[in-house]
Amino acid sequence: MIDFHAHILPEIDDGPKLYEESVAILHEAKTAGFDKIISTSHYALNVYEIPEYKRQTIIQELKTEQDIPEIFLGSEIFLTHNIVDLLKEYKASTINGTNYVLLELSPKEKKITHVEDIIAKLKENNYIPILSHPERYILFQKNFKLLYELKDLGVLFQSNYGSILGMYGFFAKITMKKMLKSNLVNFLGSDVHKKRSIYTKTSKAIKEIGKIISSEYLENLTTTNAQKILNGESLLYDNN
Ligand SMILES: [Fe+2]
Repeated sequence: MIDFHAHILPEIDDGPKLYEESVAILHEAKTAGFDKIISTSHYALNVYEIPEYKRQTIIQELKTEQDIPEIFLGSEIFLTHNIVDLLKEYKASTINGTNYVLLELSPKEKKITHVEDIIAKLKENNYIPILSHPERYILFQKNFKLLYELKDLGVLFQSNYGSILGMYGFFAKITMKKMLKSNLVNFLGSDVHKKRSIYTKTSKAIKEIGKIISSEYLENLTTTNAQKILNGESLLYDNN
């Protein structure tokens, strides 16, 4: 399996503080069945601004460790108007050097128009947006059809394993269920930030998700779709 969303680098964001902690998290990931992991450290203006080359250096160091998943570079980029500049200047990173970009919104985001404007900018520059854990945002919990508006703009969606277990509350859980039933999820990620948090629970989450969707769709979500992205292949809506 491929973990599509993970905060695993030491002292980069609100993830692990120590190198040893990063290694411990990576061991947990491997034990949970992830043989690949995308390092999606936060990139947020004035908060987390560690440029790509520095994160690459840490990834190279981690790659020398044994019994860990293969690590790929990415970012979880807080939606901002100058996002295209951040990507072109190699500050924030696309997924594994492709044109796919993982985005996060402010938890308080109220206006879909603000989101859509920036998505249009990304599309004009040939980037393909992937929205992280939509089920966690009140915006979509309250107005599910907005997800279809984004889908129509070409946005892909990544949900968190923890959401289906209720780790982010009741509304995130039911919104994720609804997304799964509507074939709106394209990838699954742990969104791990620290050890002993999610990797001991991912098998339970997969079991729960398996009760809602077909085994083929589940395989797409845990592995196949992410592999296509790492390969730089285009991902059409072929889940259903
Ligand atoms: Fe995250």
